[in-house]
Parts: sequence; C-alpha cells; structure tokens
Amino acid sequence: MKIAIDTEKRTISCGEGPTARTIPLFSREGFEIVSDLWVKVGWNEKYSYTFTWLGRPIIQLPEDMVRTQEVLFRLSPDVIIETGVAHGGSLIYYASLCRLMGKGRVIGVDIEIKKKNRAAIESHPLAGSITLIEGNSVDPATVAQVGSLIKPGERVLVLLDSCHTRAHVAAELEAYHGFVTPGSYIVATDGIMQDLADVPAGQPGWETDNPQTAALDFAADHPDFIPEQPAWLFDESNGLTRGVTYWPGAWLRRRASDE
Ligand SMILES: C[S@@+](CC[C@H](N)C(=O)[O-])C[C@H]1O[C@@H](n2cnc3c(N)ncnc32)[C@H](O)[C@@H]1O
Repeated sequence: MKIAIDTEKRTISCGEGPTARTIPLFSREGFEIVSDLWVKVGWNEKYSYTFTWLGRPIIQLPEDMVRTQEVLFRLSPDVIIETGVAHGGSLIYYASLCRLMGKGRVIGVDIEIKKKNRAAIESHPLAGSITLIEGNSVDPATVAQVGSLIKPGERVLVLLDSCHTRAHVAAELEAYHGFVTPGSYIVATDGIMQDLADVPAGQPGWETDNPQTAALDFAADHPDFIPEQPAWLFDESNGLTRGVTYWPGAWLRRRASDE
C-alpha cells in the first residue's frame, strides 16, 4: 500500500486511485497507520533483539511486556508458565514481577536450553522463582512435568512463545489450556506474523500459518475461552483503542465459573 505523510499539512494519505484517502496525521487513525508501519519495519530490523531485562536478553516489544505486567498485577497468579525460554529474559521479567508482588513463580519450557543460557538463568538472583524444563513443549512427558509442579487451587497463566507455526501453537493450546484457571489467560504470542507476510524477512505463508490463526481456531472449538485483549488499566489517551503490539489476537481468557 502507498502511504504518504505530509508533516507540513499534517496529513497522511493511504492507497492509490479511487480508494485513496487522506486523513489527519494527528488522529487515532493516523497513529494506527504509523504504528502498524513502525511495527513492520522495526520487526524486519530486529528491533526486539536489542533489549535486556535485569541482565538477560528479552526478545519482546517492550509495550507487550508492560501490558503483560498490567495483567499479572491484576490477576496475581501463583504460577506463570512460559514455553520458549531462549536467553531467559522474559522468564526473568515475569519472575521479577512475582518477586515485587510478593507472590508467584515461573516455569519455563524450551526444546533446547543452551548451556550458557541455563548457567546465566540458574545463577541469576531470581533463580529461586524459576523452574526450567527442557523438552519439546508439546511432548506429553513435558506437559506432565509442568503439571506436576502446579498445586491444586493455584492460579495459573500460560504464555506460548516457542515455535510459532499454526500447527505447533494449536498443539500447545490443546496441551496447556487445561492448566489455565478461570478468569486467567493463555497467550499465543507473536500473532504479528500474520501481518509480516509481505516484509523482506517474512514469509508469504505466514498470512495463515501463524499463532493468531491458531488462537482463533482454538477459541472456535473451546467456547470457555474468549479472544479478548485485556482492558487497559489506565487510559487518558485521545480515544486510542489498541496498542502497538507483536501479540495481536494473542490473549484468550478462560471464562470465570459464574460467566
Ligand atoms: C522466540 S524464542 C523465546 C523468546 C523468549 N520468550 C524471550 O522473550 O526472550 C523461541 C524459543 O522457543 C524454543 N522452541 C522452539 N521450538 C520449540 C518446541 N517445540 N518446544 C519448546 N521450545 C521450543 C526455541 O528453542 C527458542 O529458544
């Protein structure tokens, strides 16, 4: 799509021919168009591969982490399960929030935890709040190991950030949704792949082969899970309705028992 920004006229024009339109740059829609483009260009340049949290690389868009913090603060889970550990930055991030809130621990699952990463996570000051499990996240033995660490009555939230194919995320959703307590979430991260099919480092197949599609399929088959972007806890914006995220369509809330 052709997008032209005129900072002097303060307009943004989109499209060509009869469907072309020009809107104010300084508007909700202007912000959304600029943000969507920023997300795509930044993803291609690996912007999310530039951050650390308390010393460990965290491969996330910071806004997704701040929004996740809002949910964790509101829910105060006992257990946070994350598939996809990599360098451990997101595990450390969730563990640091647990420590600050005085409650909760983290279970991280990865098919391969590199020696260097394991050593750094296990020697981190927050290691006491983290359990690492090495294995394919959808292997029944791995899932059983995760299950054995959860005590009856504990509040659980699950984040899926391992292999992002539609098939793998679908299998993870099936394998892990039973752990999610009513009112809590299972999060199929990185649904942005759907919008990255046309960027240089993306792949055309991602239009359908992505976590967002898997989450929608799952919700259609599991009416007790609702695709629902968690509400912002604070909003004095000029009418903004959506964030800047790599996780569109990620959040699936398990209905509360009285819903
Ligand atoms: C995107 S990285 C995780 C990033 C990490 N959550 C963070 O925020 O820093 C994806 C990880 O998933 C792991 N992975 C890929 N396929 C997997 C599978 N089938 N089961 C478990 N982990 C897998 C990879 O080894 C890799 O470390």
